[in-house]
Amino acid sequence: MPKTENSQKPHDRMATFLAADLDAVNALIRARMASEHAPRIPEVTAHLVEAGGKRLRPMLTLAAAHLCDYDGQFHINLAATVEFIHTATLLHDDVVDESGQRRGRPTANLLWDNKSSVLVGDYLFSRSFQLMVETGSLRVLDILSNASATIAEGEVLQLTASQDLATTEAVYLQVVRGKTAALFAAATEVGGVIADAPEVQVRALHEYGDALGVAFQIVDDLLDFQGDAGAIGKNIGDDFRERKLTMPLIKAVAKADDEERAFWERTIEKGKQTEGDLERARALLDKHAALTETAHAARSWALKAKSALAPLPDHDIKEMLSDLADYVVERIN
Ligand code: IPE
Ligand code: IPE
Ligand code: MG
Ligand code: MG
Repeated sequence: MPKTENSQKPHDRMATFLAADLDAVNALIRARMASEHAPRIPEVTAHLVEAGGKRLRPMLTLAAAHLCDYDGQFHINLAATVEFIHTATLLHDDVVDESGQRRGRPTANLLWDNKSSVLVGDYLFSRSFQLMVETGSLRVLDILSNASATIAEGEVLQLTASQDLATTEAVYLQVVRGKTAALFAAATEVGGVIADAPEVQVRALHEYGDALGVAFQIVDDLLDFQGDAGAIGKNIGDDFRERKLTMPLIKAVAKADDEERAFWERTIEKGKQTEGDLERARALLDKHAALTETAHAARSWALKAKSALAPLPDHDIKEMLSDLADYVVERIN
């Protein structure tokens, strides 16, 4: 394994440490995203896959496997599986959210159409199952198929919770745990399972991934209001336009006076948005310190992730995972 430099960001340090594995994962992804029979498939998958993405989830799988001293090759399959599931959900998510930008590029639904995104997403889901079956581990299949179902549940729950000003933080957390944290938790857990790690470590990996995923999504929702489109590769304000009750909004709505409440009813409940509304929404979030409080919540989830690592063996990777939890929250600045 190559030596890593402490001056690098945790995410890059981990990528350097796992470079050989990540190359193998990317090669496997490229091999399996192709299709002999339907040329639209490689067009769409190449567009999304070649745009990069942080490869956070596959790195988590690889890191967990190494941390638990795995010496086989199936962690490569599992990392590719996890990235395929992620990519499939992104294709579907951008249709559902009517998003126009992803990974700094126009979305597939914009460049081709919704039909292509949905069907190619389905193709990637199926490919992900083929990849995990090759490991021969029923337990891994159980974890990842459960995660896939939970992601879909989270997205559907969000669908019915959006536009509803009565949405609570508890419901928001349920959505986030489903649509995002489930895959983070599965990604780390299967790394431990494939390495045959002791149960207490497998559980720790699951808890770490879950808390990291929640922190990650809270930050993502915060960045949707205060981020920089260039830096995050997605448009800002998508959640407001889509009338989603994310944590910053829930906090501001809870503190709204009558006039502010009328503003939220018009823009979120009725969906009658005009120019300047996003700016007004941001001003209200500021007024009620909703972004500061949201950042605080993200930080406490990151702390939770770090404490979950306690039962795991001391290792460079354990430190990187701990730093990664801090870094996910530092994206705010
Ligand atoms: C985007 O995830 C979807 C969310 C859970 C917010 P990432 O930000 O990890 O996406 P890529 O893979 O780096 O593009
Ligand atoms: C991310 O959902 C979770 C999934 C893709 C399942 P979002 O809709 O919040 O994420 P972005 O902002 O589009 O990446
Ligand atoms: Mg989206
Ligand atoms: Mg979405």
